[in-house]
Amino acid sequence: MTIKNIFIVGAGTMGNGIAQTAAVSGYEITLMDVDAKALERAQQTIDKSTAKLLEKEKISEEQRQAALDVKTVTELKDAKSADLIIEAATENPDLKLKIFQQLDDAAKPGVILASNTSSISLTKIAAVTKRPELVVGLHFFNPVPLMSLLEVVRGLQTSDETVAASVELGEKLGKTPVVVNDSPGFVSNRILCPMLNEAIYALDEGVADKEAIDTVMKLGMGHPMGPLWLSDMIGLDVILFVMEVLHRDLGDDKYRPAPLLRRMVDAGYLGRKTGKGFYDYD
Ligand code: CAA
Repeated sequence: MTIKNIFIVGAGTMGNGIAQTAAVSGYEITLMDVDAKALERAQQTIDKSTAKLLEKEKISEEQRQAALDVKTVTELKDAKSADLIIEAATENPDLKLKIFQQLDDAAKPGVILASNTSSISLTKIAAVTKRPELVVGLHFFNPVPLMSLLEVVRGLQTSDETVAASVELGEKLGKTPVVVNDSPGFVSNRILCPMLNEAIYALDEGVADKEAIDTVMKLGMGHPMGPLWLSDMIGLDVILFVMEVLHRDLGDDKYRPAPLLRRMVDAGYLGRKTGKGFYDYD
C-alpha cells in the first residue's frame, strides 16, 4: 500500500516530534489526542522547533508550513482514512492494548499499526489485534527531529513485508532504521536505561555530585549529555518503568531500579516536564 496519510496517536513529546518529522518529509499528518490542550501544546512545540530548523536552513519554508498544517483530532475513529498508524500514547500497557484494539477496528484492512513503545512487548500488542502480522515497533528517539535512529522492532508475528515497509518509511523520514527483535527494552533501552540507573545509584551512594557524574560521562566518554541530565530529559517515570520491565521480564537483579529513582518518581520530580528532576528548570 502506498503510504500518504499517517495518523499519530498521542500529542506528547514523542507524538508531536514524529508528526513534525513526517510532515516535513511530505506525508499528510493527522495528530490525535483525547486532550485538546495537549494538541495545542504540540502545535506550539512544532512551531518553535520548525522556526529553529528554518533559521538554521535545515528545512525550507514549505516544509515548515507542512508541519504547521498538521491536522489535529480528538477521536480514534478518525483513523479510518489513514494508510499507516503510529501510536505514541502514554507508556501504560493496559492503555496501549485498548488503543490497539480500537485502532484495529477503525483502520482500513492492510494498514500497518505501529507503536512507539520504549519497552512494552510488540508480540503482546500484536496479539490483541486481528492483524498481528501488520503490527510493528517504530521506536523514535527524543528529540525526534534531531535524532537519526529509528529502531524497528519485529514482534514474533510481524511479517517480512511489514518490516520492509517500516524500513522504507524510516528512510523516507530521513532516519537510519535498525531492525531488532522484540525483547525487553529492545537494544536501545536494554543498554541505555541500566547505564542511567547506575548513574543514579552512584549519586545516591555519594560517589560524586550530579555535576561531577555528568561531566565524567560527557568529557571522558564523549556523551553529548551527562546521564542525569539525559534522565531528566527522558523523564524519570519512563526510566523507572523501563527498569521495572527489564527487572521483571529478564528476572535478573542487575536491573533493580535505583531506590533514589523510585523516590524521585514518588515525589513527582519527573525531570524537565515537571520543572524538577536531578536539576531545576525554573
Ligand atoms: N527542534 C529543533 N531544534 C532543537 C530541538 C528540537 N526539538 N531540540 C534542540 N534543538 C536545538 C537547540 O535549540 C540548539 O539550538 P542552538 O544551536 O541555536 O542553540 C541546537 O538544537 C543544539 O542543541 P544543543 O545546544 O543542546 O546541542 P547538542 O549538540 O547537545 O545537540 C542533542 C542536542 C542532539 C539533543 C544532543 O544533546 C544529543 O544527542 N543528546 C542525547 C539525546 C539522547 O540520548 N536521546 C535519546 C533519549 S532515549 C529515547 O528517546 C528513547 C527512549 O525510549 C527512552
